[in-house]
Amino acid sequence: MIVHNSRSLQGRIRVPGDKSISHRALMLAALANGACKLTGFSPCNDCLATLDAIRALGVDVEIHTPHKLTVSGKGLRGLQAPASPLDCRRSATTMRCLMGLLAGQIFTSSLTGDGQLLRRPMGRIIQPLRRMGARIATAGPVSIIIHGRPLHGCDHVLPVASAQLKTALLLAALYADGPTSIHQPGPARDHTERLLAAMGAHIETGGATIELRPSTELSPIPIHIPGDFSSAAFPLVAAALVPDSRVTVLGVGVNPTRTGLLDVLRQMGAEVAIENERLQGPEPVADVTVWTSTLYGVEIGGETVVRMIDEFPVFAVAATQAHGITTVRDAAELRVKETDRIRGIVAGLKAMGAKIQPLPDGFVIQGPTPLRGAIVDSYGDHRLAMAWVVAGLIAEGETTVNHAHCMDDSFPGFVQMMQEMGARIEP
Ligand code: S3P
Repeated sequence: MIVHNSRSLQGRIRVPGDKSISHRALMLAALANGACKLTGFSPCNDCLATLDAIRALGVDVEIHTPHKLTVSGKGLRGLQAPASPLDCRRSATTMRCLMGLLAGQIFTSSLTGDGQLLRRPMGRIIQPLRRMGARIATAGPVSIIIHGRPLHGCDHVLPVASAQLKTALLLAALYADGPTSIHQPGPARDHTERLLAAMGAHIETGGATIELRPSTELSPIPIHIPGDFSSAAFPLVAAALVPDSRVTVLGVGVNPTRTGLLDVLRQMGAEVAIENERLQGPEPVADVTVWTSTLYGVEIGGETVVRMIDEFPVFAVAATQAHGITTVRDAAELRVKETDRIRGIVAGLKAMGAKIQPLPDGFVIQGPTPLRGAIVDSYGDHRLAMAWVVAGLIAEGETTVNHAHCMDDSFPGFVQMMQEMGARIEP
């Protein structure tokens, strides 16, 4: 994909539905006692992997449009053994959350996926599930075998602030013989907790601790999925950087466990407006506008990192344009995402002329530096690919993004949407 220096991005846009909520909506609707209508569903590659998996578990899903589905929930005890391994493709949320969902079933199932996914850490899910009595085996590098069996309630102290891990444990806890409590070290996204509460599960959340008592049923509810803040981050950061721009993303999720980037952009001096804030089911949504802004360096660490964990590739592009030094720490989790994102960010931005140094748990950027067009690689990581498109819009000359097709893993339609706002991109 070739990206040219662009001027003036303008638009009032909508981004695809939230990927994290779409996965959870499918899985929880599959366990509900009746039909759930999902609207705003994200038809990205990762969520389609979850959709195929729940169908393979015997759940009927009627697709009305790419964004509107009806999931005919089978109840907590109604899933069927799949005929073949469930292919999670490149989606860690699918694999990790399904491990929890399948651990307490009365059948054996197995999970597989692309090489990229199978290289990612799974022990962090398998070990705490085993403490609940789960029988999970890994069969070489290609699959995980889950021998469903009765589970016990457990007290978990999570070593990392991972929402996938938390969700796996909550799904398993629905099947346990007693209460489960989870203590998390940071504010990992809480979409599962919100949906479970809306469906009538016995869940209590307070501070860093979540308690769930086993349920006999989950009530079917309509689930309207807001726009994905992590997708909105790309056009919003692009608007801050490209001269004479103003971009509004309408109806985007602004759950505080997701919007660390907005706080940081404001701290950097960006002009940001959050308007029309309202609740859509259990999730807060709003219209978010960003204007071209002069940015200043910041120091990021601790809880803020958790609340913007997926936004660092595009944030790093913004930091190259900020006056002064930007330091990111406490973000070692970036090393085990779709790729080692610290390595990928540093390699791509160095190729474009930025002053960036890696840290074991983050990076340091000195700005502002004019970027120059270069050949950069996504290494098959959707968020790196889209970050390089944003960088290409402000770089002098032409930027070539290799392996750009993986953008569809989270954001189908990204390129067209950016073009419609004035971005000069040749797919
Ligand atoms: C996600 C949780 C985060 C995030 C990922 C989606 C989720 O991962 O990076 O893109 O939907 O639960 P971790 O659970 O590894 O922190």
